[in-house]
Amino acid sequence: MVFYEFIWYPIMSLLGCSGNVIKPNETMRFIVTTFTGVFFGFLLGASFPVLLTKMNLPSSLLPYINLTHIEGKYLGLSPQTLFSTLNSLEANKVVSNASCKSEKTKIWVPTNPRGAERLPSRIITSESDFYLHRSWGQPSEDLTNKPKYLVTFTVGYNQKNNINAAVKKFSENFTIMLFHYDGVTTEWNEFEWSKRAIHVSVRKQTKWWYAKRFLHPHIVAPYEYIFMWDEDLGVENFDAEEYIKLVRRHGLEISQPGLDANSATFSWEMTRKRDNTEVHRDSEEKHGWCTNPHLPPCASFVEIMATVFSRDAWLCVWHMIQNDLVHGWGLDFALRKCVDPSHEKIGVVDAQWIVHQGVRTLGNQGRLEDGRASWEGVRERCKKEWSMFQNRMSAAEKAYRDSIGLSPSKLMPHWWI
Ligand SMILES: *[C@@H]1O[C@H](CO)[C@@H](O)[C@H](O)[C@H]1NC(C)=O
Ligand SMILES: *[C@@H]1O[C@H](CO)[C@@H](O)[C@H](O)[C@H]1NC(C)=O
Ligand SMILES: *[C@@H]1O[C@H](CO)[C@@H](O)[C@H](O)[C@H]1NC(C)=O
Repeated sequence: MVFYEFIWYPIMSLLGCSGNVIKPNETMRFIVTTFTGVFFGFLLGASFPVLLTKMNLPSSLLPYINLTHIEGKYLGLSPQTLFSTLNSLEANKVVSNASCKSEKTKIWVPTNPRGAERLPSRIITSESDFYLHRSWGQPSEDLTNKPKYLVTFTVGYNQKNNINAAVKKFSENFTIMLFHYDGVTTEWNEFEWSKRAIHVSVRKQTKWWYAKRFLHPHIVAPYEYIFMWDEDLGVENFDAEEYIKLVRRHGLEISQPGLDANSATFSWEMTRKRDNTEVHRDSEEKHGWCTNPHLPPCASFVEIMATVFSRDAWLCVWHMIQNDLVHGWGLDFALRKCVDPSHEKIGVVDAQWIVHQGVRTLGNQGRLEDGRASWEGVRERCKKEWSMFQNRMSAAEKAYRDSIGLSPSKLMPHWWI
């Protein structure tokens, strides 16, 4: 009977079962039973409305969970007890599985992130953020402000006044994150902003070490721009909101503020601040330094002391950071590999500029060996990392060219020759 099947199948598929065969002569009994059930249900519903409103789970689909019971375990009992409670829920599931021999409830979604194929897609949360939540109330009402930008400073407590001045140049639209290389954290609470900042304290590590471990692109996904700054930058002539307006307008995916003439040292012409212009994308270097005017250090280039990444650029750059090359030397010359065309999307912002004070800070955390100053050892390591990074990059590019059958000599990168 069509009528019968029409009712029965939707009900059974709702319960996750199918294929049960019921003979037509049972139809009448089924209809009567259903009617009685519905009528009885109606009576029950009418008599005990309070009971029904309390049960807001569809009870036929999920096992009934006594929340009072579980809550008691969470609040004071051992993990073992909690585990056995959850296990008993699992046991309920097995019974219902056995009663409706069907594999339909098994989930396998190949388009899910790798490793999460067993989950229904809509539960998957593959990205995160640094937004602070309350531990009570409605989760949807926790956040009054969702900053769109992130700024990180790698700091020691000695530089607190400088950092305090710098943080004030970043509005409430920024999440502030401090990486403490000297292990001092609570002392920063003298500053009001410190209470809403994210503090990561791991002793004697470098900016790129922290970045690789705590700024995974999936973790910082909501932030449109990420500022990764050193602690020795003078910010008197800098405003972060204005800076973002400029990089947005000029389409800069990787940038830094221009360095004022008062800066302690200049390594490159490219990063020197210019007057009468908002941004610049290229420069002239000493004779013979730039074989190609579109390539570093004449263009497609910023340094690593005050770098600003767009979300997309960071997604690429994070993958290029090596776990063991903690100083990031050489990275500045390779940043261009992450954006295309790099000589248009990498630039220096002149209208918002900073002073590089050149304080040797983390450098002093190096080990004292053979009576040499500790910063010498750090310096040496930096240079070693620079050539190791170059070697790895050219080996990787060679491997790629070989894999697609391109002749090795044609595409040799020339920026480190
Ligand atoms: C739920 O668990 C609590 C504590 O174990 C118990 O007192 C209560 O009777 C249970 N309620 C139901 C409806 O089973
Ligand atoms: C559920 O039922 C299917 C089909 O009968 C069976 O293969 C599977 O092992 C069962 N799963 C569990 C957890 O018992
Ligand atoms: C923060 O962002 C909002 C929205 O883009 C903007 O209206 C506001 O002016 C920003 N705050 C500051 C201090 O610029």
